[in-house]
Amino acid sequence: MTTIFLTGGSGEIGSVLIRELAPSHKIKALFLNAPGAFTHAHVEWVQGDVTQPWTYESHLKGVNKIVHLAAQLRGGKNESYEKVNVKGTLELVKMAHEKGARHAIIASSASITQKPLSLYAQSKKKMEERLRHAQMPVTIIRPTLVYGPHSRYIQLFQKWVEGPLPLFFLPNNGMADIRPVHVNDVSHAIHALVKKPPNGNKTYDICPRTPFTLRQIIETVMEARGIKKPLVGVGEGTYAPILALLQKCRIPIPSLFSTWVAGGNGYTVNPEPFWEAYGIPFIDPREGIQRCVK
Ligand SMILES: NC(=O)c1ccc[n+]([C@@H]2O[C@H](COP(=O)([O-])OP(=O)(O)OC[C@H]3O[C@@H](n4cnc5c(N)ncnc54)[C@H](OP(=O)(O)O)[C@@H]3O)[C@@H](O)[C@H]2O)c1
Repeated sequence: MTTIFLTGGSGEIGSVLIRELAPSHKIKALFLNAPGAFTHAHVEWVQGDVTQPWTYESHLKGVNKIVHLAAQLRGGKNESYEKVNVKGTLELVKMAHEKGARHAIIASSASITQKPLSLYAQSKKKMEERLRHAQMPVTIIRPTLVYGPHSRYIQLFQKWVEGPLPLFFLPNNGMADIRPVHVNDVSHAIHALVKKPPNGNKTYDICPRTPFTLRQIIETVMEARGIKKPLVGVGEGTYAPILALLQKCRIPIPSLFSTWVAGGNGYTVNPEPFWEAYGIPFIDPREGIQRCVK
């Protein structure tokens, strides 16, 4: 049975993935603050910090593959993104190779295709560049926005559409291609990668095959919540002053989305290579989001 060293197993994606992998793999699951809720005879939760390799070094013995999901996604300063996402990843891959692992599956993000790059995206981009020189085969996955029944993004979208205004302003007319991916599909994709032997270094965009825009997300959430509000498309240059006005009136807009989509800034992705290699059908976002909205 393959032994996997999994980081981020208590996180949004990891907590789904660990359930899928556990029946057929031995898993050493690294946690930083608290172990995940999932228990299984094949799963051993081990405490450690990816920024401090000596805290997990001994657990890499006998590991065949690593699946590295742990990351700093939000908050913090530039140095902490660098420390966790760049340095922490490189040290983990190096040490795992020294201990005998022969394949690393590493989570990056489709946000590295957005402009301007957030601190998070900058660190993921740098991580990808440095991983090209890794000692063992590395498969990089770039999910778009990941949602699921417990997703913070679904809650944020709900909060956004349920705001007090009788209409809804869509930055850049809602044209940003967000192409959200269900957490179960990300888990299936990683599982498929784990099952196959590595074929050199590869990078895969993990998302549905057809565009799904911000406007479509908002329409879907509204429909699922039974909310009817006119959607007012706002041009790129006009959204910032409207946003400032809304904020001045203390109308809550999740800041993540306001900055994120202000320039109509979606992802630029190509899911075809993953589809061609693995042929996994991803759930249509309209159906997936409707199931997750409460
Ligand atoms: N969610 C998305 O929309 C999305 C989209 C694209 C890419 N991704 C990528 O997918 C991966 C997983 O994302 P996620 O949403 O599942 O993340 P998440 O829910 O925020 O979980 C982050 C995980 O990282 C662990 N962690 C953070 N710092 C650590 C450290 N220094 N040492 C050890 N563990 C540490 C946390 O452990 P504790 O719980 O113990 O603190 C937690 O398990 C990330 O690499 C992310 O960049 C996510």
